[in-house]
Amino acid sequence: MNESIRQLKELVEASDNIVFFGGAGVSTESGIPDFRSVDGLYNQKYAYPPERILSHSFFERNPEEYYRFHHDKLRLTGAKPNAAHLKLAEWERQGKLKAVITQNIDGLHQAAGSRNVIELHGTLLRSYCARCRKEYPYEIINDGTGVPRCGCGGVIRPDIVFYEEALNEDDLAAAVHYIREADMLIIGGTSLVVYPAAGLINYYRGDKLVLVNKGETSQDSYANLVIREKIGEVFSQL
Ligand code: OAD
Repeated sequence: MNESIRQLKELVEASDNIVFFGGAGVSTESGIPDFRSVDGLYNQKYAYPPERILSHSFFERNPEEYYRFHHDKLRLTGAKPNAAHLKLAEWERQGKLKAVITQNIDGLHQAAGSRNVIELHGTLLRSYCARCRKEYPYEIINDGTGVPRCGCGGVIRPDIVFYEEALNEDDLAAAVHYIREADMLIIGGTSLVVYPAAGLINYYRGDKLVLVNKGETSQDSYANLVIREKIGEVFSQL
């Protein structure tokens, strides 16, 4: 175990009010690509940039193209939680961790056993009709092809937050609450470039801000401890 991981271990052992804020990098070791790394979703070639395909207006205007992308790139294919997801769930069971706040839509924190998970960008594990709001099992999108339609004629959509859409206010308020009250904030696997999610970390008031991220982020200089390694590999040593 290297020195910075040992420091993280000590901080975790001394805290009983940890909050974790994470992004796509938490799931790469489960085989789900992130967005902005060289092999990430946004560096692959499509007829449109993925940020545009993942926008509300694009989904409304061009559901066929949206669903081609979705079935190709967002389909859940049985990925399993990795050591990072599992360790966070363990800390929650031990009463050390109060909340996981994630930008991920893959449901892997819950699959690992975490209960208090705030999914800022929604989840692929729920879907509903964009017109009448009737709820559908997620398999209707995940296991299907083409554009899934509701009995009312509307298009069924995943319960994720598209670009141009607002984040759920209750989720945002809960995230602010947990971060404000946290003794220790661990941020992992996120480039911290997408707002308002990334701005939430400004609510942290403590002096145990830890960043575990493969790449550099704009917040590195504010952190008390920065670990530039794979989060699953780091957490498996804690
Ligand atoms: P990004 O792809 O922007 O950033 C992932 C970060 O994780 C990068 O800085 C990587 O270096 C790092 N990383 C990758 N694998 C890692 C690993 N094994 N261990 C540690 N770090 C690792 O993903 P997010 O920050 O989650 O939004 O992106 C935020 C939002 O942008 C997403 O929720 C999505 C996207 O557009 C919406 O779709 C609304």
